[in-house]
Amino acid sequence: MIAKYNAKISGTGMYVPDKILNNFDMEKIVDTSDEWIRTRTGMSERRISSKDQAVSDLAYEASLKALQSAHLKPKDIDMIIVGTITSDHAFPSTACILQKKLGLKNFPAFDISAGCTGWIYAANIAKQYIENGIAKNILVVGVETLTKITNYTDRNTCVLFGDGAGATIISRAETKDISKIIDTEISADGTHYDLLIQQAGGSRMPASKESVEKNLHTVYMEGNKIFKLAVRSMFNACEVVLKRNKLDVQSIDWLITHQANMRIIQSLGKKLKIDEKKVIVNIEKYANTSAATVPMALDEAIKSGKIRHGDLVLMASFGAGLTSGSLLIRL
Ligand code: UT7
Repeated sequence: MIAKYNAKISGTGMYVPDKILNNFDMEKIVDTSDEWIRTRTGMSERRISSKDQAVSDLAYEASLKALQSAHLKPKDIDMIIVGTITSDHAFPSTACILQKKLGLKNFPAFDISAGCTGWIYAANIAKQYIENGIAKNILVVGVETLTKITNYTDRNTCVLFGDGAGATIISRAETKDISKIIDTEISADGTHYDLLIQQAGGSRMPASKESVEKNLHTVYMEGNKIFKLAVRSMFNACEVVLKRNKLDVQSIDWLITHQANMRIIQSLGKKLKIDEKKVIVNIEKYANTSAATVPMALDEAIKSGKIRHGDLVLMASFGAGLTSGSLLIRL
C-alpha cells in the first residue's frame, strides 16, 4: 500500500497513581529483600492504584495530558485504541469507557490484547489508519493496573509489577514535517502462550469458587524461560526495522525498551551494540507496568528534555502471547 499521508506522534502524557510501594514494603509482604529485587530486576519502587481506581481512570488522566501536549481538544480525536490486559471489565472495551469519559462518541474505539506489547501493537494499527487517510488524530494508550491481578503470596511475580498509563496522540503529519513514524514491526509466537497467563476468568476456565481460592485470576509467569525469549524477540524486532530502513544502530539517538527487567534492557542494548547512554530507563521508579512502560518512558524522556524534536527513537517491547514489536520514529 502506498501511504497517502505520514503519521507522527504529536503529543504524549502519562499518569501514575500516588501510592508507592518500595522494596522495603515488599519485604514485609513476601520473603524477599531490597537487595534481591534491585540486583535481579533494577526495581526500587512501584505505583499502586487505589481500590476505586480502574484502568480507564488512569488512561483518562494520561490522555488529558497527551491532548494538552499535542495542543488538541478531545473533539479533535477520531479514533481510540487502548493496549491493556487489565481492562475495567471483561467487556466492554476500556477504549469505549475512555471515549465516554472524554465526552466523545461516534467513531471507532477498541482495545488490543498484546500484553506488554499492547501500546506498540496499537501504534502499529494507528499508523495505518493515519497513512490511509481514514483518521487524523488517534488517541493511543498503553495502560495497566497489573497490581489488581497480582498474587501477593508469590514472590516470583509480586515484586515485579506496578500500575501506570502512557498516552500518545498519533496524528497526520504535514508534508513539511520532519516528525514521522518511520516504520514498525509486530509479531507473535503463540507456542509459548502459557508461559505468561491469567488462567481463569475466560471461557477456558470461567470464574468459580475454586478458581478464586487457587489464585488463578492472578498473573502466572515462568520468568526465567521468558527472559531469553524477551531479549531475542526484541532484538529481532529492532533488527528488522533497522535493516529495512538501511539504518546503522549508531544513527539511533534513543532506545526505549519494555521495562521488565534491567538485565533484559542491558542485554538487549549490548546485543544491539548501542551506547548505553542512549538507553532510556525508568524501571527503578515504576517497575513493570506492562503496556504502559514504553509510552511512559517516552513521555518522561520528552518532558525532561532528553528526547528532542528531530531525534531518532527506536522502541521495542515484548509480552504475553508471546508478542513482540518495535516502532521507529523521528520525533
Ligand atoms: O513483562 C512481560 C515479560 N516479562 C519478562 O520479561 C520477565 C522476564 N523474567 C525476569 O525478569 C526474571 O526471570 C525474574 C526477575 C522474573 C526472575 O529472575 P531470575 O534471575 O530469572 O530468577 P529465577 O526465577 O531463576 O529464580 C532464582 C532464585 C530462586 O530461588 P532458588 O530456587 O534458586 O533457591 C527463586 O525462588 O530467586 C528466587 N526468587 C526470589 N528471591 C527473593 C524469585 N523471586 C524472588 C524474590 N525475592 N522476589
